[in-house]
Amino acid sequence: MIDVRNQFPVLEQTINKKPLVYLDSAATSLKPTVLTNRLSWAYENLSANVHRGAHFLSDRATSEFENSRQRVKNFLNASHEDEIVWTSGTTDAINLVAESFCSSMSEGEEILLTQMEHHSNLVPWHIQAKKRKLKIKAIPVTPKGELDLSRLDELITSKTKIVSLSYCSNVLGTINPIETVIKKAHSVGAKVMVDAAQSIMHFPTDVQALDVDFFAFSTHKMFGPFGLGVLYGKKQLLNEMPPFKGGGSMISNVEIDHSEFLEAPQRFEAGTPHIAGVIALPAAIDFIEQMGFSQIKEHDKNLLNMITTELKTIDGLQFMGESENKVGIVSFNIDGCHASDVGHLLNQQGVAVRVGHHCCQPLMKAFGVTSSIRASLSVYNNEDDVERFLKALKKSMEMLT
Ligand code: ALA
Repeated sequence: MIDVRNQFPVLEQTINKKPLVYLDSAATSLKPTVLTNRLSWAYENLSANVHRGAHFLSDRATSEFENSRQRVKNFLNASHEDEIVWTSGTTDAINLVAESFCSSMSEGEEILLTQMEHHSNLVPWHIQAKKRKLKIKAIPVTPKGELDLSRLDELITSKTKIVSLSYCSNVLGTINPIETVIKKAHSVGAKVMVDAAQSIMHFPTDVQALDVDFFAFSTHKMFGPFGLGVLYGKKQLLNEMPPFKGGGSMISNVEIDHSEFLEAPQRFEAGTPHIAGVIALPAAIDFIEQMGFSQIKEHDKNLLNMITTELKTIDGLQFMGESENKVGIVSFNIDGCHASDVGHLLNQQGVAVRVGHHCCQPLMKAFGVTSSIRASLSVYNNEDDVERFLKALKKSMEMLT
């Protein structure tokens, strides 16, 4: 088992006089001391703007900032650092691609999504569909919580221009077979955008091997800073797309009535970015790489098996999604207990979970529920956490039934 709990001072807190059991890492991962130290270091030592100044601090900040781009390029195995665009998060990255990519689409052309998407991978496309008279289709989800790929031939046609789907569901934990979807989409000339918000801290990514066109994640879900995200895009595609936002640092020339833009990534990075966050991000990547993804996966699998096996013994508990191929996320409902009541009682016992629709209303509808209780795991969780959670859950059930 990985033991990195001493990197997370937040875990030393008591909540309602009980030791904190943090099972909400799908919402955000906790931040290790190595990250917060580096973040403070950046604010204390390099508080200068990037790509602008003629002075030492700005040069140093720019060089650290661009080193981080290089680190992310290597982390994703992208072919060039210009394929890495800083955004404010996954939502921002998806909005960028939706707006910029769809600007070249024509009335009646199609966007393919899935029934298990987070609202951040639905709403940006809805806005485009309305604005440009595009059609939205979705790959359905099976009762087991997997994508129904038997529908792929029918859903991906010459009218499909882009497919946007999550690598892992934030509710079900299912890891989607994105390779199959990418191959099929490419066979009709469509592009694929992957929402990697939930996969990024669980397993390694190789964007070249996947041959994915766009790939986005938020750094706060991988032990990194809040307010920062990454969009990977194939260089040629990024350069074919118009900017999403206008402002400083993204132009090659500005006249009073028109402007010309730099190539990617700068054309998508208007305004002052999250400089300290970008500079600190390599500390989060180091943290992951020092544990190693094979250990991370093993740790996740062991705790997921333990929690799933124990939950299965509870009468009246229904899982949402039982794929064999999933990350450490379990969602469920219990007969006679409302999810929000369970969440409240767990919190009273120091256990942090998420309850509600998890920003996935269409998925909830597919499962015939309006909410669920979700426990999500990470490297700082241990068997004690799982035991405390199960004990607190059983106690909550006794109080509610
Ligand atoms: N997308 C995050 C979650 O699932 C916020 O909780």
